[in-house]
Amino acid sequence: MKNWLVLEQISKTYYKEKLFKSKEKIDGGLKPLSFCVSEEIVGILGESGSGKTTLAKLIAGIEKPDKGSGKVVLKLGELPKEKNPVSMIFQDYVSAINPEFTVEKALLESISGKNKKVESKEKIIAILNKVGLSEELLDKKPRKLSGGQIQRICIARSILTEAKVLIFDEAFSSLDLVNVDRLLELLNNLKKEFNLYYIVVTHNLEVATYFCDKLIFLKEGHLEEVIETSRLMHTKSSYVQALIDAQI
Ligand SMILES: Nc1ncnc2c1ncn2[C@@H]1O[C@H](COP(=O)(O)OP(=O)(O)OP(=O)(O)O)[C@@H](O)[C@H]1O
Ligand SMILES: [Mg+2]
Repeated sequence: MKNWLVLEQISKTYYKEKLFKSKEKIDGGLKPLSFCVSEEIVGILGESGSGKTTLAKLIAGIEKPDKGSGKVVLKLGELPKEKNPVSMIFQDYVSAINPEFTVEKALLESISGKNKKVESKEKIIAILNKVGLSEELLDKKPRKLSGGQIQRICIARSILTEAKVLIFDEAFSSLDLVNVDRLLELLNNLKKEFNLYYIVVTHNLEVATYFCDKLIFLKEGHLEEVIETSRLMHTKSSYVQALIDAQI
């Protein structure tokens, strides 16, 4: 399999802005790290504050790496130039949709192109069905929807923007097991249909080992281990072993 994601010496430093003084570094962020990935579903794990969301934002281009640090290379074949191929779905997906927008308007915003008006309604209904939602939701506002429904709308929106890589940041944390199971099945189907890659940021090692083929472990802002899920039991890292032990 070909590497589709390559990180070369990426780092991120956060600064405290100070009036009349030079800026001051804040603890946290990410130390320079490099890895590459050929597996289609990747997990990013580590304790709270280890840098998972920072890494995800760098991959998504939401945060810029430090000046002079390396780069994120995505090898996803021919893609529309003007679009971001990476879309992030946050844990707080409820606030991800403008509360004044109907489902139809929220999804319409993700479609670009000349024939937007003509094609869009059909496109929106089709994608709603594909994420397991009914078109009856079209004129509903977010407050009338469940968390699970909003999450599916966020997924539909990412697909409509023609993103190829979907990053889920703790997006499964608030769902119960049955709903996690349903969501993972849906994601597997969508992945096949739209040739997607997934990055799952999570505390939940059980979900990660079930769903992901490769696991990236962060510790205090550095890369602790990159390991195939099938080899996790052979980890050489005591930190990773402790995370495994904590979840058994
Ligand atoms: N915008 C920011 N400004 C300053 N510091 C930040 C910022 N974002 C993250 N940090 C710091 O960088 C470190 C890593 O944060 P990050 O949010 O990436 O961790 P995380 O692994 O996603 O944690 P959690 O599991 O709690 O979501 C933390 O010490 C955090 O305080
Ligand atoms: Mg986080």
